[in-house]
Amino acid sequence: MKHIAVAIDGPSGAGKSTIARAVAQSLGLIYVDTGAMYRTIGLHVSRAGIQPGEPDKVSELIQSADAPAVSLTYVEGEQHVLLNGEDVSGLIRTPEMSRYASFVSAVPEVRAFLLNTQRDLAKTTSVIMDGRDIGTVILPDADVKIYLTAAPEARARRRCDELLEKGQDVTYEQILADQLRRDEADMTRAEAPLRQAEDAVLVDTSELTLEQSIEAVGAIVRRVME
Ligand code: DC
Repeated sequence: MKHIAVAIDGPSGAGKSTIARAVAQSLGLIYVDTGAMYRTIGLHVSRAGIQPGEPDKVSELIQSADAPAVSLTYVEGEQHVLLNGEDVSGLIRTPEMSRYASFVSAVPEVRAFLLNTQRDLAKTTSVIMDGRDIGTVILPDADVKIYLTAAPEARARRRCDELLEKGQDVTYEQILADQLRRDEADMTRAEAPLRQAEDAVLVDTSELTLEQSIEAVGAIVRRVME
């Protein structure tokens, strides 16, 4: 199989990770969730007692001897993320860590810290990598670029259902408000803001079922693999 790199970017809740994971599995590619890396740094920062709104302390920490080691490992095909060797895959999926991830992701030193790890992953294996700046900054020469989005209400509904299913105590209104705040922050930050790359294909999943979304993205990737 020829080496291939697929970049999927878009706002939170558009279905990026679910769709990318399914397409990667069906086509034999490795799925890389870069949001999990930012969440992991967010967890490290919160454990260090740093509050959102203290970016200087984050850049200091990232450049110090206490910088976290963030690595990915795959268990039965599923990505797990390790923070200094500890599997934190479950701990990073909370609204608090969503806020921390968005906060730390605007710190230039954090982005620089993860850039090479992400690029190296795509060099050695064929990947579907999802995030916010994969097509624009991390893999500007990706074979396929997709910008996956959906209406804010549809995205909040899905994220809410997902968290309720996990037993978390959340409301739709809370999730929508959080998400709009996070989208705004991700799109307006100075460093690598979320935007559609010029050569990215736009896929809007507002009116699509999950199966239809997987099919739409899978068809775009297959065309390039043939
Ligand atoms: O995809 P996610 O919700 O797990 O991402 C968490 C946060 O990390 C999100 O607010 C944006 C940020 N992020 C980023 O800035 N760049 C990426 N490549 C991936 C995520």
